[in-house]
This record gives sequence, structure tokens and C-alpha cells, in this order.
Amino acid sequence: MDYKTYIAQKIKIDGVDGEEILSSVAVPPDTSMGDYALPCFKFAKVLRKSPVLIAQELASSIAADSVIEEVSAVNGYLNFRINRANLIKETLESIESQGAKYGGSDMGAGKTVCIDYSSVNIAKPFHIGHLSTTVLGSSLYKIFAFLGYNVVGINHLGDYGTQFGKLICAYKHWGNKEDVEKRGIFAVNELYVRFNGEATEEMEREAREYFRLIENGEKEANELFEWFKSLTLQYVNKIYKRLGVKFDSYNGERFYTDKMQPVIDELKQKNLLKESDGAQIVDLEEYGMPPCLILRSDGASLYATRDLAAAYYRKKTYDFYKCLYVVAYQQNLHFKQIFKVLELMGNDWAKDMVHVAYGMVSLEDGAMSTRNGRVIWLEDVIDKCVEKARAVLEEKNPDLEDKDGIAEKVGVGAVIFGALYNSKIKDIVFSYDKVLSFDGETGVYCQYTCARARSVLDKAGAFVAAYPVGYAPEEQEFEVVKTLARFPDAVKEAAAKYEPSIIARYCVELAQKFNKFYFDCKIISAEEGVRELRLGVTKATLATLENALSLLGIQTPRKM
Ligand code: ARG
Repeated sequence: MDYKTYIAQKIKIDGVDGEEILSSVAVPPDTSMGDYALPCFKFAKVLRKSPVLIAQELASSIAADSVIEEVSAVNGYLNFRINRANLIKETLESIESQGAKYGGSDMGAGKTVCIDYSSVNIAKPFHIGHLSTTVLGSSLYKIFAFLGYNVVGINHLGDYGTQFGKLICAYKHWGNKEDVEKRGIFAVNELYVRFNGEATEEMEREAREYFRLIENGEKEANELFEWFKSLTLQYVNKIYKRLGVKFDSYNGERFYTDKMQPVIDELKQKNLLKESDGAQIVDLEEYGMPPCLILRSDGASLYATRDLAAAYYRKKTYDFYKCLYVVAYQQNLHFKQIFKVLELMGNDWAKDMVHVAYGMVSLEDGAMSTRNGRVIWLEDVIDKCVEKARAVLEEKNPDLEDKDGIAEKVGVGAVIFGALYNSKIKDIVFSYDKVLSFDGETGVYCQYTCARARSVLDKAGAFVAAYPVGYAPEEQEFEVVKTLARFPDAVKEAAAKYEPSIIARYCVELAQKFNKFYFDCKIISAEEGVRELRLGVTKATLATLENALSLLGIQTPRKM
């Protein structure tokens, strides 16, 4: 049962709807007053009564039952104490019966969510700046799928633009087939960097010509382009695989080449297109934004033009309920413009487009993505984390079997958790030591807690769950179960706010509460009945924590 919903349904306030009451019921940090509480301050205005009086009146209107043990009013708070034995039994039973489905739902049935994430640029480095979009998008994918939505993961490849003319030109002048075959994207990227440093005016002219050839479908130029593209995808797919990231579509910018004209025609027909210095724009001054550039004066399309075509294509193809763009906040204006233009074109679905913006990732030494040509490749960050995890495991548990396999899970998990733990809009400073700490707020700590729970269960052997009658649970074990009962809420909230950090924080909280219980209460050596109850708590914690971590894309090694 969802306790919060159950409690919210008991509360009736004139002029306030159920949704609002539900969102106002909270779990107080200090549980000495109650397990759930409704702060009545914000209802004072509608009801023209003091919060103290409101709480008192509500308290006397709600009767205790088998779920709610006690209702009280304290200083403007309506407090609920729930029947603990009941909550424990119900929660553990529903986790036992639902297994890995616990916390999921079918609320999304029949609705499609498109998620545009990672969206790599062909022939350019896949650097640390791509970490957040990749893991945030992938986690949102898993969260929405868990809630029953049909999800379409889209890698909107950056595979269109004059830079590919430059690349082909550089390859023609300086390229070496064997070297590119051997070093793949690294060799390709060097050619591109060299072009930008050394290209003569004549080469710039050639590059424009090569771009035109790609556009016109000329054979050789297209073969080279496709080669560079496949090298890039081969490279990133290796990293996606390690991170457990998947896509349903790799339709990138180039895919929209022939889909832009209808949008341009429609803009024209709706009188939204204006000429400005020879370029075609949509004027957004009225909305406090610079114009959205649709066609340059030489007739070339832009990033925005392709995004407009992509939005139409996605609506037509997937009939989405929401279309998310997991892209850095640097592109805030771009998406505001795109969404506004779609709205001005009369599409009511423009309101379903969401820019899920996130902050920057930098390394502790101040390095970012590209500075003085120094690129921090994401793969190097992952490798270094795995290597460090290997060393930590070696030190902590030298007898551990399959250290390499475990180090991969721990290192990759540390990188993912490090990127997802903070609210997505915050800038992150990535620290290897911090993300690999066994007792910080880390993925490693959560994984270790799983291994600990598993080892308790392995030692205990088979047991039959028990709920001793009249047993008054210890505060520590009750706290664990209450946190378990909250998991379905956390998943829904994470989806509603497009915020996987809510799940990451949930994992840490559950792990902390479990560890307190583990250290303070006997489990295996507890008296009969209590032992089975506590083993049940341990088993449910393991299942839920693993489940929650998997929504972030983190695997848990059996042993650590
Ligand atoms: N490739 C772009 C970049 O690296 C991100 C694309 C995001 N998606 C989109 N539909 N605009 O900046």
C-alpha cells in the first residue's frame, strides 16, 4: 500500500484538492512526532483560520484505524503515527511478491516518451562533457520504462555541417589509411585539429566544395564520411556498452536533410518567416529572445532548422506524450527558441517538449572538456576510475575472486553515481577519490551495502519470513522499512522532476539506514521470530537497493 496516498485520502480540506493535499503530506526528518505529517500553514489563507486551529480540527475529524494508529495536532502540524507492525508486514510482503517490479507502475501505459540524449558529434572527441547527458538520459529512460511508459531513446548525432568538408579535405591532404584504421577516431580527430590550425585559404575553399559533395550525394565524399561516422560509432558504442546505455534510434542531424523544406514552407505559409540581411529568421523579439535563424544568407540550414524538422518527425513517428532533450544549460536559449517557434506554428504539442538542462562537469585539477586542445576523453576517466577501484579492492579484500570484473562494476558505478548524485543543474567537480570512497555518499558505498546484506543472507541460509504478533519493532528496523515503503514515491518524483538524483539520494539514505540497523541490531543471532523478521528486512533492502541502483545504470557485484 502507498501510505502517503492512504493518509492523504483521509484528509479533507474545503477548497483544496486531493492532489495538493497529497503533495503536501511529508515524512518529517525527526520521527519522534510522527511518521507522516501535514504542515497546515499554507491552508491558513483559504480557510481564514490559524494553522494551529486547522491542524486541531483535522485531527479530531480523522479516526484511527488499522493503518493509522494515532493522529495528533502539534503547532500547526497534523501528525500521523502509523501502525508499525502493519507497515512492516505489508511492505515486506509487497517487496517479496513484486521482486524487481517493486516501485514500478503502469501509470505510463499507452504513453510514449522520447528522450534525446548523449547525441554525440561524429569525428569529435567523446569527452567528459558528454558524461552527464549520457548517464542522465539513460537513467531517465530506465525510470520512465519502469513506470510503464514506452520510451524511445534517441542519439541525435551531430553528423551535419561544414566541418565534415574540412575533415575530408584534411584526410585527402595528410591522411593515411592504415593510421586511421589503426587508431580510429583519435587519428580522425587529429586531422580535424590539424586542419583548424594549418589549413590554407585554398584548403578552406576545397573543404567547402567537399561539404557540397557530401550534400549532393557524391560517392567518394560520402564513403569517407560514412567511414568516419562508423569509426566514431564503433568507439562510442564500446563506452555505451560499459555504461549500460542503449538507444532505439541514431537518427542524427543529417537524417533531417530532406525534412527541413516542409517546415520552412509551413513557416512561410504561416507568415512567420522574415528576411533579415538576406537570412531567413523567425522574429522572437516580442518574447524577449533574439531571432531564431532558419536559413543563412547563402541558403544553408542551421542547427535550429534541423531541430524543428526533428521535432515534427518525432511527433509524427512516435506521437509522444513528452519529448525530452537532455542537453547542457548552455543551450537553454536554443531550446526556448525552438519550443516557441513550434508553438507559434500552432502546435499544441509544443507544451510537451522539455529541455532537461544540466550543469558542467570539470575535473578537480580544473581541467574541462577542451582547453588548449587538451581533451579529457570520457573513456580515460572511466578507465582511471576502474583502475583505482581495482587498487582499493586489492587493499581492502586481497582474497576477493574476479577482482577485474568487480573493479569494472565498481569503477563504472562510481563514475555514474558521481554524475547523478547532485541535482542535475549543478556544476560538478569530479574527484576520483571522492567517488570511490567506501563510506561517503557514493555508489561504492551503496554497492558495498548490497554485498553486506547478501553476505548476511548467505550466512543465514533459508528462512521463512515472520511477523511476530505484538512485537514492537526497534526504531532502526522500522526506519529501514519506512524507507523501503517510500521507494515507489521516490521513483515517481524522479520521473516528474526529470531528476535521477532523487533515486541516487534515496539509495544513500536506504544504505545508511540499513547500516545503522545492521550495526545496532542483532540479525542472525536474534531470537526466533525476530530473526526471521530481520532477515526479511535485510532481503527486502537488498532487492530494493539493487533495483534502485539499476535505475541509475549501476550493477552490484555479489561480493566486494
Ligand atoms: N550534438 C549536440 C552537441 O553536442 C547536442 C544535440 C542535442 N540534441 C538536439 N536535438 N539538439 O551540442
